[in-house]
This record gives sequence, C-alpha cells and structure tokens, in this order.
Amino acid sequence: MRIYDVIAKKRDAKELTEEEIKFFIDGYVKGNIADYQMSALLMAIYLNGMSYKETAILTNCMAHSGEMIDLSSINGIKVDKHSTGGVGDKTTLIISPIVAACGVPVAKMSGRGLGHTGGTIDKMESIPGMKIAIEKERFFEIVKEVGLSVVGQSGNLVPADKKIYALRDVTATVESIPLIASSIMSKKIAAGSDRILLDIKVGSGAFMKTKEDAIELGKTMVAIGEKVGRETVAIITDMDRPLGKAIGNSLEISEVCEVLKGRGPEDLRQICIELSANMLYLANKGTLDECRSMAIKVLDNGEAFEKLKAMVLAQGGDVSVLEDNSKFAKAKIKGELISEKDGYIYSIDTEKCGISAMVMGAGREKKDSIIDYSAGIVFNKTIGEYVNKGDVIAYLYCSDEEKLKQGKKILSDSIKINDIAPNIVPLIQARITKDKIEKF
Ligand code: URA
Repeated sequence: MRIYDVIAKKRDAKELTEEEIKFFIDGYVKGNIADYQMSALLMAIYLNGMSYKETAILTNCMAHSGEMIDLSSINGIKVDKHSTGGVGDKTTLIISPIVAACGVPVAKMSGRGLGHTGGTIDKMESIPGMKIAIEKERFFEIVKEVGLSVVGQSGNLVPADKKIYALRDVTATVESIPLIASSIMSKKIAAGSDRILLDIKVGSGAFMKTKEDAIELGKTMVAIGEKVGRETVAIITDMDRPLGKAIGNSLEISEVCEVLKGRGPEDLRQICIELSANMLYLANKGTLDECRSMAIKVLDNGEAFEKLKAMVLAQGGDVSVLEDNSKFAKAKIKGELISEKDGYIYSIDTEKCGISAMVMGAGREKKDSIIDYSAGIVFNKTIGEYVNKGDVIAYLYCSDEEKLKQGKKILSDSIKINDIAPNIVPLIQARITKDKIEKF
C-alpha cells in the first residue's frame, strides 16, 4: 500500500477501508509517513469529511496506538465525562463527587488548559499539595477506597492523537467534525470507562460555533460509541457566556466548593445537576428524573462535598482551603471593570474572557508558561442583567500591573451593553442518545 494512493482516494472524496486507515495511523505513529503527507491527508479529510464507519475505524485505530487502561478491577459501571472545552468550566470537580456520592465509581483522567480554555488538572493543582501524577495502582486504590480519583493523563495514552493534534494545530485542520470526534473518543476509549457522557460546548467560547455543528459532532461521537460498544450520550450546552462567575484556577475551586455547599451560581448548579443525572442514568441508576433527584440530594446534604474532600486528602491536597477558601494564596492586585453606560449586558464574547484571564496569568500563553493560580476574573454581573453607569461588571485578579491593564482591555472589549435585553438561549440546548435527538 502507498500513502500517496490513500491521500489521492480521500482527495477524490472516496471512502477509505479499514486497512487503509490502519496503514496511515500505524505508519504515522512509527514515523514511516512524513508530516507533509499526513498534512495533505488531514486536509483532504477536512474538506471531504468521513462517513460514520470511517470515523469509528479511525477512532479505534487511534485508541489502540498506545496504552489501553483496564478498569475492570474496579467494581461497577464506570462512566467518564468529557467536555469539549470551555471558559470557567469547572464541572468535572463538581459532578465527579456527586456521581461518586451516589455510588458510581469515577476513575477519571483529565487534561490541562489549552489556549483560552481552562483544564481540570491546572485547577486541581491550585490546591496546595495536590498530586495529579499518580501511579496506576494507587489511582485504582483511591477509586476503590474513596469512590473517585481525578488524575493527569498517562504519558502513553493515544500517541496517535498527540502527533496528529500537533499537526492539525499548525495546518488549519482542527475544526473538522470527524477529526475532533476521533480525537476525543479515542482518548475516552483508551481511558477505559464503560460508558461516556459528552458535554459539547457551543457558542463564542467553543470549537463549535453553531448548534447544528454541535449536534452533528454529538451524533458522530454517539455513533462511534455505539460502534465500539461504549454507550455514549451527548449534551449540547451553551458557551456564549462563561459558566458560573469565576474564571481562573483557585477562583474556580472556590466556586466548586460553593456549589458543593449547596450555594453557588444557579447556571453552574443546574448544568452540574443535569450532567450528573445523565452520568447516573448511563450507570443504570434509574430514570433521568430519579437520577436528577439523587444528584440534588447529595449536593444539598453535603455528601458530594465530603467526597471531594476525601479525594483531595487521598491525593495529598490541603483540605483546609476547601473548607475556608480565604486560605488560598491571593493575587496582589484586585481590579474592577466598571460599566461606562446604562443598559443590559447584551453579549459576552467568552473566548475573549478566557484570553483575558490567560493574559493575566491564569492560563498558558506558551507551552512552558508558569500559571499564576490566583489570577483570573470574577463576574459581578452576567448576560441579560441591567447595569447602571459606574456599576462593577467584574473583578480582575492579577499580580502584575501591566498584565492587569491588558486583561482589563480584552475583557472590556468582550462585553457589549445595549438598550434592549438579549434573547437568552437555554443553557442546555440538546441531548443526543443512540435513539433520539431532543432539542431544548
Ligand atoms: N479536544 C480534543 O481533545 N481534540 C480535538 O480535536 C478538539 C478538542
């Protein structure tokens, strides 16, 4: 087989066979296929797409390109959850303890922040002492003892995705539904859970800018899950506003604790209840309504918060900062974004909010940038709220005057104030299962 012929076949919009897909994945991981040939093939896939069958084969080949985690020694149905990446998205650290408190084990590998989007592992590392690089045996032990553990991704998980993602990033081929679907699903499959819940973000802060594209991505991933025997549900959620009020690592952990103490912003609480209910549903815990009630119960009676604390303790973290968030290290400077006129907060460009927080130190501008865990933004007003001239829209936390100035300018540009109130779309826009698509 020649890679030239595989590229030509996809260029001519023909369906690739299993042998051809295996050939280019194995060849690329082993270094037998050059970057320029893989780039040409990725662009052909970007332009001509892939059938569900091709995408499922691609996903399976990628998943098997490295280590496959075997979670079978942990009793019960293991359900994983994946978010396609957002701003202020701290749901993993709320829903994992909820689900664990309801008796479903969570053995989860999470990632770091990427560009303007945050990452669970960075947020966890803002807790003093917290370890996220944990040997597999200890990871399993913690799941068995506590009911949950969230750790960093193992080094040899899906090497094909690592190589291909780096190439997509520099060849304008990231925003392709089959390529995104295979990238995410290969990692979920290799990570070993039996069932998968996907939180697909849509809006200005997300990869998917329209509901139609988000639904298409959801359908593709649910179909892949079916083909490889891992039941998958996809929820489409709004990312035209940051989730909750806080963006930035320790600021987000404080907000996680608020929600787990039965308080916190209503949008964040709602989305966490919905995602937890769907994970419990996938774990055969009952109907969706019954699962919602279970999630609300453990949120409100504090059992979910106790689970988070038990995990943090087991992974070496300082639990006292969770009980008293004022113990987190503080940013040196607190700035304010003040409204310059009266009106409704009409729109918030979420990507810009993420960039603002990143510039102030909450994320990495370069791969090796050092994160300032105390940096970020806390909104005082949100989309649809009326503000008067002089009102504080958001507080900014930073330890460098120049960075604060830059962050404030970007944040200010992200917010539009208007005389008329915006039409606010529902936080949860659609739910996709193997049987149906429900739109809300
Ligand atoms: N997240 C991933 O892991 N892969 C993609 O391609 C896009 C988002």
